[in-house]
Amino acid sequence: MKQLVFATHNQNKVAEIKDKLSQQFEILSLKDIGFDQPIPEDFETLRENAAQKAHTVKEQTGLDCFADDTGLLVEALNGAPGVYSARYAGPECNSTRNIEKLLRELSGIANRKAYFETCICLILNGNTHFFSGQAHGVITKNAHGKEGFGYDPVFRPDGFEMTFAEMSMAQKNKISHRALVFEQMLIYLKSA
Ligand code: IMP
Repeated sequence: MKQLVFATHNQNKVAEIKDKLSQQFEILSLKDIGFDQPIPEDFETLRENAAQKAHTVKEQTGLDCFADDTGLLVEALNGAPGVYSARYAGPECNSTRNIEKLLRELSGIANRKAYFETCICLILNGNTHFFSGQAHGVITKNAHGKEGFGYDPVFRPDGFEMTFAEMSMAQKNKISHRALVFEQMLIYLKSA
């Protein structure tokens, strides 16, 4: 079976994709291949960051691989926090502080439209491919729910009355930006 490395240190993401691809590919995490160095992601776009991560792993291991990068893009904030979503609140950031900052920046602003975007860069058989998935919704005025991670408590996807953090993981995984982009990559890999 062909091997494909997922260039991430996040084991939850690896489990999610392993579940979906196990028929055709042996998905290896960075842990599985003993790659424990930090991977740089210092570009200004999700696409460039995903490419940088995938190329770093390809160059250092020679293995076919893919990498993802995600951001929350808020319309009234001109696309912020975007690529800086993980560290929006600065050096001492964590999810709570990032959310607090986001709600502060949006206080008094009526336009709450936002979307998550995940970009994947896949390097397979010497070719580079890109995929992207989006989940559109609004930023709520307060945090609701305890599931998920990151900005989930303040993101309510379009068509739903609850935030991502009020959904079960299974429910979120059907409609999330990552689910959509994984789905696209799967369709491609099945035909490759
Ligand atoms: P990453 O590129 O997947 O590490 O995501 C970067 C940042 O975006 C994370 O640290 C989170 O703050 C945020 N993020 C990514 N995916 C999600 C999600 O599904 N829900 C909420 N926040 C997310």
